[in-house]
Amino acid sequence: MKKIIILSSGGDAPGMNAAIRASVRSALHNNIDVFGAINGFYGLIREEIIPLSNRDVGNIIQRGGTILKTGRCPEFREKSTRDQVRAFLKKHAIDGLLILGGDGSFRGATLLQHEGGPPIVGVPCTIDNDITGSDYTIGFDTARNTALDAIDKIRDTAFSLDRHFMIEVMGRSSGFLAVDVGIAGGAEYILTPEFPIKIEALCEKLKNKTSAKQGSIMVVAEADQPAHSIELAKQIKQKTGIDYRVCILGHIQRGGSPTVQDRVMASLMGAKAIEILLQKQSKMIAEKAGEIIAVDFPTPENATRYFNKAELLKINAVLCEV
Ligand code: F6P
Repeated sequence: MKKIIILSSGGDAPGMNAAIRASVRSALHNNIDVFGAINGFYGLIREEIIPLSNRDVGNIIQRGGTILKTGRCPEFREKSTRDQVRAFLKKHAIDGLLILGGDGSFRGATLLQHEGGPPIVGVPCTIDNDITGSDYTIGFDTARNTALDAIDKIRDTAFSLDRHFMIEVMGRSSGFLAVDVGIAGGAEYILTPEFPIKIEALCEKLKNKTSAKQGSIMVVAEADQPAHSIELAKQIKQKTGIDYRVCILGHIQRGGSPTVQDRVMASLMGAKAIEILLQKQSKMIAEKAGEIIAVDFPTPENATRYFNKAELLKINAVLCEV
């Protein structure tokens, strides 16, 4: 292992820079030359590659986003594009790839590797915490703290004006963010895609409980339909008369300086990734029961991890209906 390329792919996640820093420094320590591809897989396609030194990754551990920039790259689903990239990697004698990203990025990477590409190691980075095989993904803790901070602020105005608020959080098709933020934010209701509730049943509950309260918080997962809470609030108003103000937190959840947990996890995972690349293995780095380990990449059919601890939703009489 003499030369590797690192790239970040998909949505950015706070802690990506800490992972870049750890992997670059760990690789250089092992006498591996490190390069960064700019804008994810686009960097490999457009051959936008920069050398990375110890100094290049100084003073970035505290920064959100990714210094390498990232991108969602549908072109990489085409075999012809991957063939072009494989030829490029071969020409430059690249011995390994390190991908910081989510399941979509890993899907492209594993195809490249199966088609004759170099060993590839993935570090799970997404605020959604939804990658099969790992109990934790880099960025999740920062995002849930950002969302919680927003809820605490909304509580001030909800209390002062006796208002009900519906707060929509990200998470794609999983409810991990919604559940943690809802419990920690003292929400009366949490709606997750894993435990859906019919609008009629929800309205019944609200009529019985919420109408008597002067202000309340409902946390709603985006559930693959960003901004759907606007329509949900409209329907609740029509059916019950209860007025919910809607606040969609959106991309604010992806920014900001990573928390201690994200910096530590990113540093450990970044260093572990180099250890696995040195063994010329193709694996995903994962956290399992507090250990940082290497596991097989998730299969495309089973790549998304879903929230399944229904009992957690019973805390604070939070809504849980299957
Ligand atoms: O996967 C991370 C994520 O932030 C999801 O929570 C969200 O659904 C999606 O990315 C938004 O993607 P984009 O930035 O492309 O709008």
